[in-house]
Amino acid sequence: MTERQRRVTILDLYRMKSEGTKIAWLTAYDFPTAQFAEAAGLDMLLVGDSLGMCVYGYDSTVPVTMDQCIVHSEAVRRGAPTAFVVGDMPFMSYQASDEDAVRNAGRFLKEAAVDAVKLEGGVRIASRIRSIVDAGIVVCGHIGLTPQSSGQLGGHKAQGRTAETACALVEDAVAVEDAGAHLLLLEAVPPEVTGYITERLSIPVLSIGAGPPCDGQLLIVSDLIGQFQAFTPKFVRKYANVAEVVTDAMRAYVDDVRKGVFPAEEHCYPMLKGEAERFREAIGEDGGGAS
Ligand code: KIV
Repeated sequence: MTERQRRVTILDLYRMKSEGTKIAWLTAYDFPTAQFAEAAGLDMLLVGDSLGMCVYGYDSTVPVTMDQCIVHSEAVRRGAPTAFVVGDMPFMSYQASDEDAVRNAGRFLKEAAVDAVKLEGGVRIASRIRSIVDAGIVVCGHIGLTPQSSGQLGGHKAQGRTAETACALVEDAVAVEDAGAHLLLLEAVPPEVTGYITERLSIPVLSIGAGPPCDGQLLIVSDLIGQFQAFTPKFVRKYANVAEVVTDAMRAYVDDVRKGVFPAEEHCYPMLKGEAERFREAIGEDGGGAS
């Protein structure tokens, strides 16, 4: 993989759609992971509010705050200077009013230098999308399974599996594009619906659990590397088992500490030449205490 010379822009993502080059997108929440993602050639990174579950151990994304999202977005931006970074607007940062939506979307750009913001919902948040776009900010819509409203959906369930609900998703997708959004994410939707929406929209359509017929794929990094333990959604492919690697390493450390084989000589700082002797003199030959 050749190193990117400049940051990915929304125009690059449009070009990738028109050329049929699939966009590779992953979440990231911290500096080292963002560095790995940059080195691996990810086009886009999402500082998802999934950080609530993957980093903070909450049982949903609902408690996540703007301040948490900003701090993590700043770290990701530092680690990934050329990826297209999307800040995820947390629950209640845009639901109450268009003004809240613009103010909080603006914080992501001013404080964390992200390239775009993402918010959940279709028809019912079209005015929020329009207001943020009118403020000059790149917006990614997110429909299908929308975790912030999973209470209304009756849990983390796939969406659009009947003809009626699939048609409602198409309406949502069109509303998001008509409101001026630049990208659309579909979550947990059957491929037939994804394929239709991707054909129908001119903006890039990305999938997390929405099958292959679209312009790119997103996964949660903690699922991909096998770090998140609570559950694994059907749509995840685990590419590594970091939980096992890290736990094994920690177990080996505990073992070495107990046995006294860590630290070894090579981990210790020797005293400067002649200083050990002077130190012994200073504390008395029997080591009984400094004079
Ligand atoms: O927060 C997140 O990571 C997300 C994905 C589940 C799409 O919004």
